[in-house]
Amino acid sequence: MVKAAVLVSGGGTNLQALLDAQGRGELGPARIGYVVSNRKAAYALERARQSGVETDVLSKVMQPDPEQYDAQLLNMLRIHRAELIVLAGFLGILGPKVLEAYSGRILNIHPALIPSFCGKGFYGLRVHEAVLKRGCKVTGATAHLVTAGVDEGPILLQKAVDVLPGDTPEILQRRVMEQAEWLLLPRAVKMLAEEIEKC
Ligand code: GAR
Repeated sequence: MVKAAVLVSGGGTNLQALLDAQGRGELGPARIGYVVSNRKAAYALERARQSGVETDVLSKVMQPDPEQYDAQLLNMLRIHRAELIVLAGFLGILGPKVLEAYSGRILNIHPALIPSFCGKGFYGLRVHEAVLKRGCKVTGATAHLVTAGVDEGPILLQKAVDVLPGDTPEILQRRVMEQAEWLLLPRAVKMLAEEIEKC
């Protein structure tokens, strides 16, 4: 068993995809055992509670100093014996302590085909707005390992999704989630957990 902590900020549909995959026995040795949100009001927290998963909130309001935030988050992850971290719509930046302690064990799902539409400022709906503005005909999602550079870590899985005439950022976001993110993330978690279990 590889205990995974999922970091969230918003609606938590990717967290839900992980919980559903776990219910179907599709996460391999991974078990979603802890959810941390950097927003108190994140609906993702409710999803976790409904599935009986332990939750915590660590926001910038609670801990405004980035170094302290980093140290506190690491402490929380260690107390809960997390062995793998999943960023599932987590809109914060991880600090050096967490990055070092969990090097090679942190996954992120990004709603575009990296290296396009990624890096600082590209998150959530903004990504899809930029894709539509550029007139792309194809977009997608990427599951990748997290390193210090934003969205620069090794790519594990990618899936392309068509952009269709009449798309709004919201419609495109939903299609990218349904056709790519919710499929890729559970597969990537399973892959990484299998690697960790071998160590
Ligand atoms: C998802 O589309 C995820 O890929 C994106 O935020 C959304 C969160 O939705 N993440 C990023 O943009 C990170 N750069 P969710 O809370 O419903 O999973």
